[in-house]
Formats: sequence, C-alpha cells, structure tokens
Amino acid sequence: MTKPCFYITTPIYYPSDNLHIGHAYCTTVADAIARYKRADGYEVMFLTGSDEHGQKIQRKAEEKGLTPIQYVDGIVANFKRLWEMLGISNDDFVRTSEARHQKVVQDVMQKIFDQGDIYKKNYEGKYCVPCESYWTEHQLINGNCPDCGRPVENMQEESYFFKLSKYSDRILKYIMDNPDFIQPVSRRNEMINFINTGLEDLCITRTTFDWGIPVPFDKKHVVYVWFDALLNYFTGIGYGTDNEKFNKFWPCDVHLVGKEIVRFHSIIWPIMLMAMGEPLPKKVYGHGWLVVEGDKMSKSKGNVVDPIGLIEEFGPDAIRYFLLREINLGSDGNFSRDALISRINADLANDLGNLLHRTVSMIEKYHDGIVHKSVVNEHYDEASRAMILATVAAYKAAMDNMEINVAIKLVWQFISGGNKYIDDTAPWLLAKDPEQAVRLQAVMYNLAEILRITAILIYPFMPHTSPKIFAQLGLEEPQEYLLSDVTWGMIPDGTKVKKGDPLFPRIEINEEGVAVVADTKKTAMAKPAQVQTKKAPLLGVAEIGIDDFTKLDLRVGTIISAERVPKTDKLMKLTVQIGNEERTIVSGIAEYYTETALIGKNAIVIANLKPVKLRGIESRGMLLAASDGEGHLVLAEAPGIVSGSKVK
Ligand code: ME8
Repeated sequence: MTKPCFYITTPIYYPSDNLHIGHAYCTTVADAIARYKRADGYEVMFLTGSDEHGQKIQRKAEEKGLTPIQYVDGIVANFKRLWEMLGISNDDFVRTSEARHQKVVQDVMQKIFDQGDIYKKNYEGKYCVPCESYWTEHQLINGNCPDCGRPVENMQEESYFFKLSKYSDRILKYIMDNPDFIQPVSRRNEMINFINTGLEDLCITRTTFDWGIPVPFDKKHVVYVWFDALLNYFTGIGYGTDNEKFNKFWPCDVHLVGKEIVRFHSIIWPIMLMAMGEPLPKKVYGHGWLVVEGDKMSKSKGNVVDPIGLIEEFGPDAIRYFLLREINLGSDGNFSRDALISRINADLANDLGNLLHRTVSMIEKYHDGIVHKSVVNEHYDEASRAMILATVAAYKAAMDNMEINVAIKLVWQFISGGNKYIDDTAPWLLAKDPEQAVRLQAVMYNLAEILRITAILIYPFMPHTSPKIFAQLGLEEPQEYLLSDVTWGMIPDGTKVKKGDPLFPRIEINEEGVAVVADTKKTAMAKPAQVQTKKAPLLGVAEIGIDDFTKLDLRVGTIISAERVPKTDKLMKLTVQIGNEERTIVSGIAEYYTETALIGKNAIVIANLKPVKLRGIESRGMLLAASDGEGHLVLAEAPGIVSGSKVK
C-alpha cells in the first residue's frame, strides 16, 4: 500500500554565524512534526539547509580574510553537527552553493524571464544588508529597517525586476479563499494589510558584488539572495531532475518559518510559483520568537544562547522537551535556565523518570524481572484502555493542528495517570498477599504497557529517550515508532526488564551557581553556558502587607507605538494598549531598546500611578523593568498574555 506523503521545511539559515537557540527551536519543532507524521504512517520529506549567498556573507568572509565558500564551509559543518547532536531527522540538506541548486535557480529565472515577468530598469532605493531586504522610503521607520531597526544603505544599480505587482489581486484572493494558508491568523491579517498597502515589483538581481548565482540571461548580474533561497524548497525534491519525487511532494504541506519572514513565504514565493504555473504550498506557519530571560538575543547584549553548549550540559532530549513543551508555537516564548532546570526536574526526572524507575524496580523485586502477561479485568483495565484511545485521538488532533505543547501535556497526563495507578494499587501491599499474586502480575503488566505506549508517544519529541525506555523494558527497539502500535497488550509474556541508569537525573544549582546532578554533586555540564549568580538576601526594603500591594493596579499592556522623546537620551514615548484603552506612557528605556524592538511587547504597567508630565508629555502609568546587574534595564514582560489582564 502506498503511504500518503507529507513535506515539511524549515527556513534555510544564513551561515553568517553559528546558529543559536532560536534556530534550534524552529528546527526542533519541524523535526517533531516530521517524526510524528512518520509515526502516523506518512512518507515524509523533511528539508533544511543553508542560505549561503548574498552581500552579508560576502562581507563577513572578507572581514575574516577568507573566500565566501571557505567561510561558509566551516559554519555549515557546525550547522550539521548541531542537527546531529539534537537528533534532527532531516531527509536532505540543501546548500544554496551546490550545483544542483544553481541549476534550479537558473532554470526558473530563465522560465519566468521568457514568459515576460522579469524586466530591466534602474533601481534606486534602500537596502538592509543584515535582512537582505529592499525597502521603500515610506516603509522605513525613522530611516531604519522596519524589521530589525538597523540602518539601511542607499542602492543604485541597473537591475532586473520581477512583476510582483501584476499578481497582487491574485495573491490576495488566494489568501482570502484559503483561510488555512497562513497561520496563525494574526500573521494572515498582517499579510493582508501588507498587500493592501500595495505590492511593488521586486528587484531580483545585483551587480555590486558577485557572491551569488549568475543570472542566466545576463552574466554581469547575480540573483537576489531571497529569489535564490526560496527555490531551495524545489531543489530538495528534485525539481527538473526527478519528476516522480517532485510530483510526490509538491505542493509542500508546511513551510515552518519565523514570523519575520512570513512575508517572503506567503507573498513573494507564492507569486514566483504563480509565475511558474506551479501550485502553491498548503500552509505557511509563522512561529514566534524565542527571547532569553525576557530579552531579545543579540551579540551586543552578549545574551545569545549557544545550543551546543546546552546540549552538552543537559542532553539533547531535555532541550528538545523544554523548547517544545514551554512555548506556544504561534507566540513568542521565553528561554531561561531556571525554567529549563525546573522542567527537567519536575517533568522528566520526577514524572517520567520515576515512573520507569519504580516500575522496573518493582518488576525486578516482585517477579525477578519477568513481565507476566496477566489480565485481571478490574475497572482500571477497562478505563485505561478507553483513556489510551482518547489520549491518542486528542494527541493526533493537537499534532495535526501544530499544537505541540498541547500534545505533550496530554502525554504527561497519561504519565501522571501511571504514577497515580501505582499509588492507587499499592503493589507493595499486593505483594504481601499471596491471593493477590495474579493481580500483582496484571498491575506490573499494565505499568509496563503504559511505559511502552509513552515511549511511542514521546518519540517525536525525545527520540533519544524512547529507545532507553524500550531497553529498560527489555523490548527490542522497533524499526519505527508507529502510532498503530499504541494498542493495549503488545508486550510479550515473559519479557525480561533490564534496569538502567535514571533517564533524567535531578539537577540542582550548587553554591557557586553551577548546575550539578543532584545527589552526586557532579557538574551537569561539560562547560557552563551561563553561570547563575548566587542568591543574596534583599536588604534595606521595608516589609509591606498584602493590602499595600493590592493598592497597585498592575496590568499587562501591549506597546503599539514607540518614539524617542526629542533631545533626551533616555526617554521613549510609548502608546500602550491596556484592554480597550490606549495610553501615553513616557519610559526611561530609550538607551536599551530601539523603537521597533519595543513594538508588540507585552509589558507590565502600573496603571493607577498618578499622571506626571515629562518633557511636556503627560505620562499615565509606568512600565516595570529590572536592572540586569550591569546597569542595563530590561522590561518586565508577559508574553502571550492578553492585554489588560491583571497582574497579581
Ligand atoms: O532569514 N526565535 O535566515 P536566518 C525563534 N536565510 N526563531 C528564530 C530566532 C529566535 N530568536 N532567531 C532566528 C533567514 N530564528 C533566511 C531564510 S528561507 C528560504 C531563507 C529562526 O538565519 C526563525 O525560524 O536569519 C527565523 O525565521 C529563522 O531562524 C531566520 O534565520
């Protein structure tokens, strides 16, 4: 029987630098979905890669005294090493410097040129090199790139243009007719607004540098890096060389991308496809950004989290679990070491690790390690079978809807059910009563089954852990972890369990602030990614009662606009939406945030502070912020919480 097909992609990342935890997040999400689809019986194509051309990379290589290819070769090797360490199961990896990709780009460019959608004219405008994006004067914010807030460069060159504007009505209609095409819905609305402001033709060639794919009909030019990069989704499935594979996987099921590049994937890429006469992808999902301890990652702030260091410290599955469990895919999420360690201790060491440890220990103690397939049809057995069916159905619905953290919560309810079953049945009491011998065997069997099923359900999230659970249960590792094996009673009678090391040792922070494995005091890490500061008592602040605290009306407010107050370094004038109300608040954070970095943040506002006038502007409220210890202020944030919510 032929399997249904499923094609999922990540962005191909720029090898201008090593990847950070945000990139690892996106790729882990895509990997979890790819693994889930395989477990659900699909033939999956999961593609990732590297976006190697463009001015940014060429400049970076020049700074290092290397040729661009020498420079990217080193970084791309690190990408691949990271994916290997994290257990990423991509089926192919497209490097845009490969000959197979160059051919696809040149063929497509020629095709679109021949049918008249590419023309030449003189370009004058603004270019953001870090984002490799063109902007018009009216799109700039305070003269800077509206995406990243950095300065743009003037560009003037003779270039080829792609007729985006010609397709404006068609793409708008497509988005309107296909409500699931762009997700989540907030990104869809942004794209509709963007198209409604008017699409301009896109400059798709450059002559001022040469690190790119030569334009087939005019070799003085190289192809614009985004036009080049988007076509990786075709290269990976054999466009023009392997029609069978191409037809099997195109149109793509999901392009998973960060929210800042949804525009390229849901407007420019679909229009390229329209011009080629190819069908459009089924879904573009714009995931949220990961911030670190509430702050945007940036080299200048020195808060960029290296995933390789974290994997060496805590292991790949703990990192994967944290990223997938902690963050709602469509919203921004926070990475913090404290939250990571709490999750490891509570969910992995305690809930999952204990269930396995207790079960295997009891089977060894009571039955010499042998699992007896005994069935005693007490209420629990019936109920647990029904619960498994319900869990799997809800788990599949959540995964198909890309609600990964919802699916994980369901599995953890199932695991908690297993721990509760031990407490409810009290096997240590059954073991004392010879008349309960068969019942005890049945309880042990049920527990082993709960763990086998758990191992299958967590495989998409923690692929290194499932084999360890199978091994401790004494089961041969399956060739594939399939959801069709989530039926009760598949452990053979007479299976011998093999107790192993704890799956996830508990982590403690020692007095030096270093993460250590509890009980052993061994460091949990090969090298500390970031050493925690020691906790010091808070001195010199008078105690207050709860009634003092409740006088404060603390609310979540969304910053909807930001502008610097002229002639000051520190002050930013903000418009903050608190529920239905918009207020002006002047805040002393202008030294630490750009205007664009502030917009969209959910801050915590003291809403009932008496208004004050600052530089002639009435400020109604105050934003909470913390000092990071080096004199930098960091806003207190409440990502994902509805504006107007009370903070208590
Ligand atoms: O944009 N949180 O590459 P890029 C979550 N080459 N995800 C993050 C993140 C963060 N803080 N930072 C980055 C490019 N990402 C182009 C793509 S595709 C044809 C070309 C993830 O190296 C997120 O998925 O800048 C984002 O869209 C992507 O990395 C950008 O990676």
